[in-house]
Amino acid sequence: MSTLLIKNGTVVTASDIQEADVYIEGEQIHTIGKNLQLKADRVIDADGCYLLPGGIDAHTHMELPFMGTFSSDTFESGTLAGLHGGTTTIIDFAIQSQGQSMTAALNAWHEKADGKAVGDYAFHLAVTDFNESTKKEVQTLIEERGVSSFKTFMAYKGALMLDDRQIIGLMKEVKKHGGMVTTHAENGDLVDTLIAENRAQGNLGPEYHPLSRPPICEAEATGRILDIAYQGGHPLYIVHLTCEDALNRVRQATMRNQKVFLETCVQYLLLDDSVYKEKDFAGSKYVMSPPIRKKTDQEALWMGIQQNLIEVVATDHCPFCMDQKRMGEKDFSKIPNGAPGVENRMELMFSEGVLKNRISLHKFVDLTATAPAKIFGLFPRKGTIAVGTDADIVIFDPKKQHTLSAKTHHMNCDYSLYEGWKVQGKCRTTILRGTVAVDEGKALVGKGFGKYLKRNKLGAAHV
Ligand code: URP
Ligand code: ZN
Ligand code: ZN
Repeated sequence: MSTLLIKNGTVVTASDIQEADVYIEGEQIHTIGKNLQLKADRVIDADGCYLLPGGIDAHTHMELPFMGTFSSDTFESGTLAGLHGGTTTIIDFAIQSQGQSMTAALNAWHEKADGKAVGDYAFHLAVTDFNESTKKEVQTLIEERGVSSFKTFMAYKGALMLDDRQIIGLMKEVKKHGGMVTTHAENGDLVDTLIAENRAQGNLGPEYHPLSRPPICEAEATGRILDIAYQGGHPLYIVHLTCEDALNRVRQATMRNQKVFLETCVQYLLLDDSVYKEKDFAGSKYVMSPPIRKKTDQEALWMGIQQNLIEVVATDHCPFCMDQKRMGEKDFSKIPNGAPGVENRMELMFSEGVLKNRISLHKFVDLTATAPAKIFGLFPRKGTIAVGTDADIVIFDPKKQHTLSAKTHHMNCDYSLYEGWKVQGKCRTTILRGTVAVDEGKALVGKGFGKYLKRNKLGAAHV
């Protein structure tokens, strides 16, 4: 069994900080302590660096067939980019097509990922067709296939959207077997009406994307899904929450003693809707759903984190290159929705979050690794640094300054949402299950190194 000793680092978890050495045997952490005098095949000096738990991005879309094209990162390129940026595990969405079984969808996503992903991966199942037949698959998916979370779309009618009756049925079945429903909360009918109105008026540029999906669309759907979950006593996780209005619906729900898990994404914390004014179709880079909101929404989201309402920061990594975005050059509603981010999340949350005093170092670890591991049934194997856990460790240099750019990133996308941003703090070395996967920007593992992670059962009480 190979051994690795990381010396002189500062181990940071969601709750503790200590100067310590970490000794790894095989794929797991064997010993944590001061001045360990253990022989190892390899010794790494981490002086001046933090040792962070490998990041978990709970919301990605690799090779997603969407809006007439495919998201441009494969499981190989996307998970490798994640490793460069300190994310060792992704939870991607296997998306059922209407008329298809959920099992067939999951099998199709395994085909894309197995033997190809470089980083570790798990799946949520996005349900687009819930009926008496697909209902029967829920138990097996949870108990045998390790898929314990099921996403519902309240928007994208005709392709992905479920109606409320289907969502209620799914929630009941999922709860019965120890899983949880997650939701993309936007009122699909309202969105479609606003898109049609804008198109009819000849409003066709990317700047009309956010105007067709205003905060009220998200707030209404958020309130509705909260009510549905509350009525049935169902656990609920809301993906990519973006705005103050939606957050206030959650605040209201907490007053009736309802628990809901909330995720936001880095771009909603750091960008504002002025991006849609960028000239020459550059606004299309930011076309995602829900859209980028106002500065006041950003502030509300940071406050939602400080109030422990928002527990997870993900990316919704769903990149499309500019030639794909140009499919909507004459009509914003045809611009593929999504943007890259899996590589940037950890460094941005440290630089913009910790160093700007918006969150503590421990909160940073919690939002990016520990909370997603706990909420989605990967803890304690993933999400912390402790004896017996997978040795997924990021050696993070908190002083190193660098500039984000599509010219240097590893995501398969020809633009960056953060082009030219100067950040402080860099993932120097990423270790996945005891193996140095990326060191100083150099990949040392390749195609197929990633493992599929079967997840445990879930529920509000498991966290
Ligand atoms: O615009 C987005 N978010 N694209 C990916 C699909 C989704 O809605 O999560
Ligand atoms: Zn979504
Ligand atoms: Zn998504």
